[in-house]
Amino acid sequence: MTHQRRWINLAVLGSGKGSNFSAIAKAIAQGEIAAKIAVVVSDNPKALILEKARQLAIPAVVLPQGKYKTWLEPWIEEELVRILKQYNTELVVLAGFMRVLKETFLASFEGKTLNIHPSLLPDFKGKEAWKAALKAAVKETGCTVHWVSKELDGGKIIAQSKVPVYPSDSPEELHARIQQAEHELYPRVLKEICLDWIKQKL
Ligand code: GRF
Repeated sequence: MTHQRRWINLAVLGSGKGSNFSAIAKAIAQGEIAAKIAVVVSDNPKALILEKARQLAIPAVVLPQGKYKTWLEPWIEEELVRILKQYNTELVVLAGFMRVLKETFLASFEGKTLNIHPSLLPDFKGKEAWKAALKAAVKETGCTVHWVSKELDGGKIIAQSKVPVYPSDSPEELHARIQQAEHELYPRVLKEICLDWIKQKL
């Protein structure tokens, strides 16, 4: 009898509080996504996402810091790829990972890496996109799940979710509203991708 796989092995990469990680882990625990979080990786040893992973008995690995704040030197990307392969990662889920990933990583994981960005791309690429949306006085913004490519926040868009922007919003209020939308959108997209991939494997 052949053994048929019924889930996709995910690696979640984050640098911060891990609220998207929690939303995804919850959806998996409720049987909504045919996936397993095989490993959580962070570039920040103090990130709450590591703590949250350990509480769920998910392996949590910290990368070497390196010399630069916004990207990883090639030898660290090599280490990241080694860790991801060690845990048989099929799909990489960026959830607040604050380093730009480059060629060494993409050579192994392009087409297998998702990101969530807190704006309606292509508007407001880059950091703190909710502040840029407030400054531009737009009436709505939101979040986008997209494939990761060489161009920062520029890969193919998979899905978006909109939220209103109110004139009275503080940056924190708007970010919280966007994050609520993220916690619904990311699990929904992952559910569809994992189902598709499993069907292709059968
Ligand atoms: C999210 O707002 C996401 O859009 C951005 O980083 C934040 C991560 O938040 N890329 P969390 O760590 O998942 O709470």
